[in-house]
Amino acid sequence: KYRGAIFDLDGVITDTARYHYEAWKRLSDELGIYFDEKINERLKGIGRLQSLEIILEKSKKQFSMEEKRYFADKKNQYYREMIKSITPKDLLPGIPELIRELKERGIKIAVASASRNAFTVLKNLGISDKFDYIVDASRIKKGKPHPELFLTAAENIGLKPDVCVGIEDSAAGIEAIKRAGMFAIGVGDFEILKKADMVLKDLRDTEKILRLFSINVPGG
Ligand code: BG6
Ligand code: MG
Repeated sequence: KYRGAIFDLDGVITDTARYHYEAWKRLSDELGIYFDEKINERLKGIGRLQSLEIILEKSKKQFSMEEKRYFADKKNQYYREMIKSITPKDLLPGIPELIRELKERGIKIAVASASRNAFTVLKNLGISDKFDYIVDASRIKKGKPHPELFLTAAENIGLKPDVCVGIEDSAAGIEAIKRAGMFAIGVGDFEILKKADMVLKDLRDTEKILRLFSINVPGG
């Protein structure tokens, strides 16, 4: 039934969600602003400046736009330092198999990422040429939970949204996929991703996903 798979990048293809957290943590520690994993959940899938605004909610101080840009840049420098060491070994379990199987069966695959660093990460992972299309934050106006990233990906792989499956680790991303009219697979915590059509702990169980594309796995 489904003919296209649109992957989020950070936290789905590789564990850069961890790096984003660590870079924001370092910045907030420097600023003396309280920040933890729970607040970080709200940042997943959300753009850089908007993420900073969420972090600054815990501060009593008011910051100018210039200061905010400076903080966001600083976080991005920390993040870019971390992603330098990414190699193909950092692909999350199940991802290499999924990409291979889907491509072999003629399923179109795309990436829909809110990150401006998406291309660098994909290049370091050695998979930037595997996708039929890559949409990142620089190509769209509205970030997740708006559906624009996923709709742009579908359009560019030549498919209607209702034959596409979106794969996400963030609540904002699941909302974007649903608003785009696609089937949503959540990867991670069920409570956070319960609006998805299917929630998986991780992508190790590739059969469950391949079946959506009527791909039968021997013995599966
Ligand atoms: C998303 C991440 O993929 O990209 C967010 O889930 C991040 O945590 C956003 O803030 C923007 O990324 P970047 O690399 O442009 O700051
Ligand atoms: Mg993500």
